[in-house]
Amino acid sequence: MAKMPTTKAKDFAMRAWLPTRQKANIVMKVLVTGGAGFIGSALVHRLLASGAFRVVNVDALTYAACPAALGSLSDMPGYAFEQVDICDQPALEAVFEQHRPDAVIHAAAESHVDRSIGGPAGFVQTNLVGTFTLLEVARAYWSGLDQAARSRFRFLQVSTDEVFGELTEGQEATVEGASYSPNSPYAATKAGADHLARAWFRTYGFPVMISHSANNYGPFQFPEKLIPLMTLNALHGLPLPVYGEGQQIRDWLYVDDHAEGLVRILEHGKPGQSYNLAGGDERRNLEVVEALCEQLEELAPQGRAARSAGGPGYMSLVQSVADRPGHDFRYAMDAGRARDELGWLPAETFHRGLQKTLAWYVANAGRWEKDGKGGWRYRRDVGLSSACE
Ligand SMILES: NC(=O)c1ccc[n+]([C@@H]2O[C@H](COP(=O)([O-])OP(=O)(O)OC[C@H]3O[C@@H](n4cnc5c(N)ncnc54)[C@H](O)[C@@H]3O)[C@@H](O)[C@H]2O)c1
Repeated sequence: MAKMPTTKAKDFAMRAWLPTRQKANIVMKVLVTGGAGFIGSALVHRLLASGAFRVVNVDALTYAACPAALGSLSDMPGYAFEQVDICDQPALEAVFEQHRPDAVIHAAAESHVDRSIGGPAGFVQTNLVGTFTLLEVARAYWSGLDQAARSRFRFLQVSTDEVFGELTEGQEATVEGASYSPNSPYAATKAGADHLARAWFRTYGFPVMISHSANNYGPFQFPEKLIPLMTLNALHGLPLPVYGEGQQIRDWLYVDDHAEGLVRILEHGKPGQSYNLAGGDERRNLEVVEALCEQLEELAPQGRAARSAGGPGYMSLVQSVADRPGHDFRYAMDAGRARDELGWLPAETFHRGLQKTLAWYVANAGRWEKDGKGGWRYRRDVGLSSACE
């Protein structure tokens, strides 16, 4: 099922675009929301590593945040952290006034579909009210900039393929501009946030761009999402709960490829435009779990031995559980616009990205403990600040 870009196409993308950034000597200050989260932290690292950006990281540090993912950035010139909730208008205004950013990448969100089904209120608050608050504070700030700064300013709304709703098998991949059809409370609140952002462009001329990313995976993802949950459960000899028959299809994108896509949109994207960022690598959930178990047999044979010497492999832990209500069958997006207009292509294959991800979770498995409700939490005795090192 996997379709990967050709090596020739990848070479083109790297040659044509990377030197542009290296040569640029203009340093742009980017306010990143949610920069202590899984994707946000990868983005912050990428922005700073390029040398072309300074970063103000605005994050409320919810349960999903992993400040340790930011390593020793706090000592780095060009990096600042503000613990602020994006729903807190006066605090946001103070951050804009103090740091005077040239751009915003808005990645803060409540992001887990299952939590949104159990308790949608927090999703409405952060994803809708928070995005509205941020848009208004950013627009007021932008309105007060001089003409040159105003025309350079950008606001990138980080969104998801889930806003488009589900596809059937064989249906054409979604292109930008397709109608929205969100099915979960999470997707509905992300869709609402996108509509607000789009309207702020259309009504106020506020320079909004929107990215739609496929399912991400990589280090530092909170172990409630498929890959880290299965990995930690497997390493502890616990059941691997697969929804229904595990036949749902997702497109997988390594987190650093997403971060690079966001940076390219920021640098070369057009206000009012949206861009799909997809790995072009569709897999059924059960296939993902099989690939993960197969790699863990190599990476962590001790887990298997602990259950019973010479016992069955990790796949024997798989258990089918009642399907998630309203579970979308398939997401797939066409990332042709990002490839053609931004020179973006994912650099990582699923096999290699999964290997890197699993190696990281194997090395850090002891940092989490069961939360008593079937999930995981950071170990208190290890402490949040070092939980993910
Ligand atoms: N994870 C994926 O596969 C995926 C795919 C497509 C799009 N996205 C989008 O990418 C963005 C980042 O996703 P992620 O997986 O890194 O999420 P995450 O849950 O790992 O991190 C979210 C971060 O936002 C912060 N945050 C939450 N509420 C906040 C608030 N009210 N104020 C300030 N900060 C707040 C959290 O503390 C956390 O650091 C989200 O907008 C999500 O919708 C994620």
